[in-house]
Amino acid sequence: MATLKGLDGQLADPNSERTAFPTPDYARNEARARQEHPELLVVVGICTHLGCSPVDKFQTGAQPSLPDDWKGGFFCPCHGSTFDLAGRVFKNKPAPDNLEVPPYAYLSDARLLIGEDKKQG
Ligand code: FES
Repeated sequence: MATLKGLDGQLADPNSERTAFPTPDYARNEARARQEHPELLVVVGICTHLGCSPVDKFQTGAQPSLPDDWKGGFFCPCHGSTFDLAGRVFKNKPAPDNLEVPPYAYLSDARLLIGEDKKQG
């Protein structure tokens, strides 16, 4: 999570303010996650460009198709969009928006409900 800090200038929508795929209020933070578990990211695995499936690229550093100072995140192999570990899209990429955060809620520490968030604000 420490890698999320300091990326804002490289991101198209660092504060999740765009509305095409509205981010729930409880995920409008740096980690784009509920405060109960900020270390757990819940996003829809569909690129906001043309709908391909971004893949995880958790290894840091230089590697094909990624910048030399890569800090880990997601890569869409279709047209090269890159996202940080919170699913925030980098600037000047084909994808116009961050990965979508669906409605979700923790029913307990070990149970996650995806698709509904009415039990928690
Ligand atoms: S579908 Fe992901 S970059 Fe085009």
